[in-house]
Amino acid sequence: MTDSDLDLAVDLDEAILELKRERNAILLAHYYQEDEIQDLADVVGDSLALARAAQRADCDVIAFCGVHFMAETAAVLNPDRTVVVPDLAAGCSLADGCPADEFGAFVERHHGARVLSYINCSAEVKALSDLICTSSNAVAMVEQFKGERLIFAPDRHLARWVGAQAGRDDLIVWPGACVVHEQFSAKRLAKLKVQHPEADVLAHPECDQAVLEQADFIASTTGIIQRALEHPERPSIVATEEGVFHAIRQKAPGKVLIQAPGIDESCSCNHCPYMRLNTLEKLYLCLRDLAPIVTVPEPIRVRALRPIERMLELS
Ligand code: 13P
Ligand code: SF4
Repeated sequence: MTDSDLDLAVDLDEAILELKRERNAILLAHYYQEDEIQDLADVVGDSLALARAAQRADCDVIAFCGVHFMAETAAVLNPDRTVVVPDLAAGCSLADGCPADEFGAFVERHHGARVLSYINCSAEVKALSDLICTSSNAVAMVEQFKGERLIFAPDRHLARWVGAQAGRDDLIVWPGACVVHEQFSAKRLAKLKVQHPEADVLAHPECDQAVLEQADFIASTTGIIQRALEHPERPSIVATEEGVFHAIRQKAPGKVLIQAPGIDESCSCNHCPYMRLNTLEKLYLCLRDLAPIVTVPEPIRVRALRPIERMLELS
């Protein structure tokens, strides 16, 4: 079923809300989703908040507006519920850059090391992990492994930042990166700061070190939103996906928000190309048709569940 099958007369907002009731569905949306999707969601949050919401879900269907690894985490936590996504192609460069077979061989090469994986990875990689973390709890999760050899996968920028916060310069790092956050330009950010000396620079820890060094505050999407709202009178330069602007503007409409510049002047680096595959039309269709469904083979699901649940207990 494609967008072109859509009856143009349908009022999408109304139709989605009606289908949500009919299907006994909840709608979970990440902050990087387009505004219209966030406005319809039951829960809008960062990866950790959405994993928690999925764990507590009391419904028949979870419609997950985010990327594939997020919906997969919801499926791992909910074997008896149907998890649908607007677009199955909404992946993530971090998850895609860490194939489970290659990661398994990497773990073997570092035999005896424990494995902490960022939630931005496939269920197969989670199944090879001792514990999962998100950007909002990564430091606390690293601290669970004091005195132990530790693999951190799959984001090298987050690994470096988290290692410095936790006093660990010995993390064994899988060298992945986010195509969005790696695009921010430290050089152009420095120039922008000169033009806006009063601005607070807020950055996601998936950014390159040279960008993070210029930040006043480094945190997950939820942390960035909270910090921006703490200082509504102060402009913020934001080095993460532009979707977070919506949550900030809802509570602080007059706040000045400036996008951190990309390496290439013409790029739309503040948009995650995967997250933005989801549209209101596709959300309507996925609820109408209950497809595409995200499933995880049972042996992998059972092994992936353990480190996810452990993270949720510890967070
Ligand atoms: P958060 O956990 O901060 O929402 O980050 C998710 C993500 O994919 C960042 O690119
Ligand atoms: Fe993955 Fe980066 Fe998109 Fe986040 S912004 S979902 S890390 S590609």
